[in-house]
Amino acid sequence: MSRIALVSAMHEELAEVLARMPDEQKTVVAGREFWLGHWRGHDVVAVLSRIGKVAAATTATVLLERFGVSRMVFTGVAGGLAPQVNVGDVVIAREFIQHDMDASPLFPRHEVPLTGLTRFPADAALSQALAVASPLALQDMWASLPHGERLNLDLAKAQVHQGLIASGDRFVSQTMESQDLQRALPDALAVEMECAAMAQVCHDYGVPFAAVRIISDRADDAAHVDFQRFIQSIASRYSVAVLERLLLSLPA
Ligand code: ADE
Repeated sequence: MSRIALVSAMHEELAEVLARMPDEQKTVVAGREFWLGHWRGHDVVAVLSRIGKVAAATTATVLLERFGVSRMVFTGVAGGLAPQVNVGDVVIAREFIQHDMDASPLFPRHEVPLTGLTRFPADAALSQALAVASPLALQDMWASLPHGERLNLDLAKAQVHQGLIASGDRFVSQTMESQDLQRALPDALAVEMECAAMAQVCHDYGVPFAAVRIISDRADDAAHVDFQRFIQSIASRYSVAVLERLLLSLPA
C-alpha cells in the first residue's frame, strides 16, 4: 500500500488529524514527531511541518527518506495577496515560488540556483482532487462551526482559487510589504512560509506534492490579530474536513 504524508502547519490542525487516526504510533526523528497510522483505509504519516522553509524542507526530506512516502499533501493557513483572495477563501496551489530567493546577478530573480526553475509545479492529479474536495469541505466545516466562532465571516461566500503560492521566511504583516510582493509577483494568490521549499524537495525526489491553504489574514497591518483567532476557530476544522474528503476520493 502506498503511504501518504499529511503535513500540517499548526498544532491545532494536527490534533484534529490525529483524532481521526485510531492506531497512530509516534516516531521521533530530527526532533519531530511523526505519527504513523491509518485513516479512511489509507496508510498515512502525519506531522507538523514546523515553520519556515528550511524547517519544512527537513520535514519533507525525513518523510521521503525515513518513511518512504509516495505522496505528500500540505494543509494550513496563508495570507491573501491578490485582491480577490479574502479571509475564509481557499487557495489550492498549482505552482510555488520562493518570493525571497534572489541570487541575482548570478541567476535570474526567483530562480532556484542550479535547477533552472523559478516555479515548482504542484502535482496535477492531487491538486485536482483537492479542488473537488475543497468546496465540500468548506460546507462541512461551516456546518460544524458553532455560531459564536464564525468571526463575522460569511463562509457561505468563500471562494476556492487555484494558482501560484509564494513562500518566504517572513510573516507578512505590513500592508507595504504585501503591496511590494503583489508588484513583484502579480499572479501570486497567497503568501506563506513553507510550501515552495517542500515542493522543491518533492521535485528533487520525483514525488507528487500538493497544498491547500485557507486564508487567515490579508497579510496586512491586521494580519497578526486575525491570524490567532482564525487558527483557533476555523483552520483546524477546515484542514481535517478537506483531508477527510480527499482521502475518501483517493484509491487507498
Ligand atoms: N501564513 C498565514 N498568514 C501569513 C502571512 N501573512 N505571512 C506569511 N505566512 C502566513
